Amino acid sequence: PEEVEDPDSLTALVNQYHALPADYAPKVVYLTAAYTNQRDRLRPVACQAFMEMADAAAREGLRIYNASAYRSYTTQKWVYQRYVNQEGAQEADTYSARPGCSEHQTGLALDINTASLSDHFEETEEYAWLVENSWRYGFILRFPEGKEEITGYQFEPWHYRYVGPAAARVCYENGWTLE
Ligand code: DAL
Ligand code: ZN
Repeated sequence: PEEVEDPDSLTALVNQYHALPADYAPKVVYLTAAYTNQRDRLRPVACQAFMEMADAAAREGLRIYNASAYRSYTTQKWVYQRYVNQEGAQEADTYSARPGCSEHQTGLALDINTASLSDHFEETEEYAWLVENSWRYGFILRFPEGKEEITGYQFEPWHYRYVGPAAARVCYENGWTLE
């Protein structure tokens, strides 16, 4: 992969072909405990937007919380390696990013409620609400169903990326991924 030129940009493209420098570590802040199932961090702008989004969902009786947010280069290295050990690199590459290539290192991405296809988050009201409303808060569903050839990854109903409301709206209205 090529190195990402402006890693701090809210719309920085990080994927299998665009990697963050190994030493890139954004300023991140802790999510308030009520919004997460573990101690976890995001960039301040994404943290604020996520909590506002969760509050809006809560007003409609829906529960949205973080399951995995910021991951350093080193953490991602272990996450990816564990999957490689279990299933081999070819399979792991369809759902786990190599170190440097994960949006979780930007501090702008998080997994909402679950990070397992077997949990079928895509069948919940929370998922349906997020698909229609997350753009208002600056988030996009990053690995949609049917876009696997473009994103390089299997459908992930839980993985959201903060890009800011303007870019999120463009993606939502056009059915585009960040690519
Ligand atoms: N599961 C996504 C692709 C990641 O590892 O960043
Ligand atoms: Zn994720």
